Amino acid sequence: MRKPLIAGNWKLHKTIPEALELVEALKQNLADITDVEVVVAPVFTALVPVAKVLEGSSIVLAAQNCYFENNGAFTGEVSPALLKDAGCSHVILGHSERRQLFGETDELINRKVKAVLAEGLTPIFCIGETLEERENDEMMDVLKRQVTVGLKGLSESQMLNVVVAYEPVWAIGTGKTATGEQAQVAHAFVRGLLAGLFGTPLAEQVRILYGGSVKPDNVDGLMAQMDIDGTLVGGASLKAGDFIRIARFEKN
Ligand code: PGA
Repeated sequence: MRKPLIAGNWKLHKTIPEALELVEALKQNLADITDVEVVVAPVFTALVPVAKVLEGSSIVLAAQNCYFENNGAFTGEVSPALLKDAGCSHVILGHSERRQLFGETDELINRKVKAVLAEGLTPIFCIGETLEERENDEMMDVLKRQVTVGLKGLSESQMLNVVVAYEPVWAIGTGKTATGEQAQVAHAFVRGLLAGLFGTPLAEQVRILYGGSVKPDNVDGLMAQMDIDGTLVGGASLKAGDFIRIARFEKN
């Protein structure tokens, strides 16, 4: 029922020529995939050239962040309308690096989610606990706060256009992946939170991605979990072969 979504978050990597080389390889090797939605998120400067290469392919484009206003005196920001103009259909929001390094709060992320939805784009809304929070038994409280505040005020039809990404901060870029079972517990909990806010039938339709050191050798085990509907991939999305294998995860 929930179409798997595999997204590559390139973070602050790749020049335009490097981005084009990677996306050409993805386009050639993933052209026939129809049962999985594939999304790539290059840096802002590579969005337009990458969009040109992706024209006519089933791979779609995401930005890694945006502001909540569409234009005005906001030096250094980029808006949902401009991202749409550049060819994006998705925007990653609330990534833990934005929260930790750039001070993004749940309230700010909520405004961004609404602005992205208002432009007809799909937010990939990221949540996840730090190692300290997990060890202090605060995981559930943190996820609850992030989901409740981050998605506050959304209508049911808006929520249907949101993709949630659970990324335990301790697993991002560390090589420490949550086990399939650990991730499943968190995903089921998040789906339960969505059910509480938006009703069970709607929560059953929302895709919840897992992120944090997803690699070719662990993707199959993660995707075998009932509530894991895709992956948000950082490091391994920078290598064509790895990302292609992840997008072609084995279903069991
Ligand atoms: P990682 O990053 O795959 O390198 O751990 C995931 C992410 O930050 O989205």
